[in-house]
Amino acid sequence: MLTKVNVSLKARPKSKYNILLGDGILSNWQNWLSIQCPDKQIVIITDKIVENIYAHSFSKTLTKNGYNVLILSIEPGEESKVQSTKEYLELEMLKAKFGRNTLLLAFGGGIVGDLAGFIAATYMRGIRYIQIPTTLLAMIDSSVGGKTAINTPYGKNMIGVIFQPSLVVMDLALLSSLSKILVINGLIEALKIFLTLDNKSFTYARLNLNKLLEREPHTLKSVIARAVKLKVKVVKIDEFEENLRMILNFGHTIGHALEKLSNYHILHGYAVGLGILVEAKISQLMGILSIENYELISRVLNSIGISKDMLSAFNADEIVSIAKGDKKNHSGKILFVLLKDIGEVYTKNDMVATPVDENYIIQAFNSLL
Ligand SMILES: NC(=O)c1ccc[n+]([C@@H]2O[C@H](COP(=O)([O-])OP(=O)(O)OC[C@H]3O[C@@H](n4cnc5c(N)ncnc54)[C@H](O)[C@@H]3O)[C@@H](O)[C@H]2O)c1
Ligand SMILES: [Zn+2]
Repeated sequence: MLTKVNVSLKARPKSKYNILLGDGILSNWQNWLSIQCPDKQIVIITDKIVENIYAHSFSKTLTKNGYNVLILSIEPGEESKVQSTKEYLELEMLKAKFGRNTLLLAFGGGIVGDLAGFIAATYMRGIRYIQIPTTLLAMIDSSVGGKTAINTPYGKNMIGVIFQPSLVVMDLALLSSLSKILVINGLIEALKIFLTLDNKSFTYARLNLNKLLEREPHTLKSVIARAVKLKVKVVKIDEFEENLRMILNFGHTIGHALEKLSNYHILHGYAVGLGILVEAKISQLMGILSIENYELISRVLNSIGISKDMLSAFNADEIVSIAKGDKKNHSGKILFVLLKDIGEVYTKNDMVATPVDENYIIQAFNSLL
């Protein structure tokens, strides 16, 4: 069955689009593609792995049906989400004479989605694009909400823009080729959304972890749909991250620092999982979260392979120093989303991000190691 989630943004009510979630939507592409692309000009941005499994044959199908298709694929990995790749792809599109009537398909995981979305936002001052997420992480999180970005030597996602797609197509069939590690990678972003917004969904995911790891379709679809609906609710209210949307950065202040320190060798979801562990610990040390809830979170993460021992590879002082440079901070204080309860964040003066004394971060590391 097809689930359709409508995204209409409070600040720009006219800019509406749909998220489609179902099994086999890609093979029914006629149902959603032609209306998005009357001029039949398509650029597919993908990575080499996704190209081999899905995007190459999809592009052939479109060509056979009269579309003018350029497929551009990048090396998989965070190293590709940089300015030089963006420039290379844009120049290839210009060389092939793709104009403003081009529809761009961001066909891949979060890396392809963030990079291709940024290209769509700036190519000839903006062209339409469709997100076709192929990882669980990209379905649950990165393809929803229009955040696009590239990394720099000074930090992750430092250059980018919020630019909404005209459609998001989530085909569950594409998840069958994901490794268990990539399923866990995505599941962590779902747990992050549930921990900050919805106790019931956290309980559902926690009680169905084994089914999720086995990619049982019904359970997987339910978790994706829950996470997407929660994220859409947040983005509708606060598209430009003035306050509420920061909730989705839970686990990310520490997570991004770990990614940078590991030279992006640790997967995003795993870094966020460790970030959740540390940030929940900070919440508990500050007397905001109960020890029982902290331990529950720690147990759930542990059961999917996120253990505090993985933190021993990192130095707390270095993490503090990188976290200070996070783009969400101001006046030298490190801002954290802190957890008050499962499904509820701590707020002060209605703000969801709280400045935290760096001693708490060091203390959290010391008590975890
Ligand atoms: N824009 C946002 O709101 C947002 C939110 C969360 C994360 N992100 C970003 O997303 C990125 C991480 O995304 P990711 O985890 O999807 O990484 P990814 O795009 O690198 O994909 C992970 C790996 O899976 C492979 N892959 C993709 N689809 C596959 C499939 N169906 N079968 C088999 N292999 C497949 C890819 O080739 C890659 O090697 C990070 O850069 C992160 O910053 C963005
Ligand atoms: Zn994330």
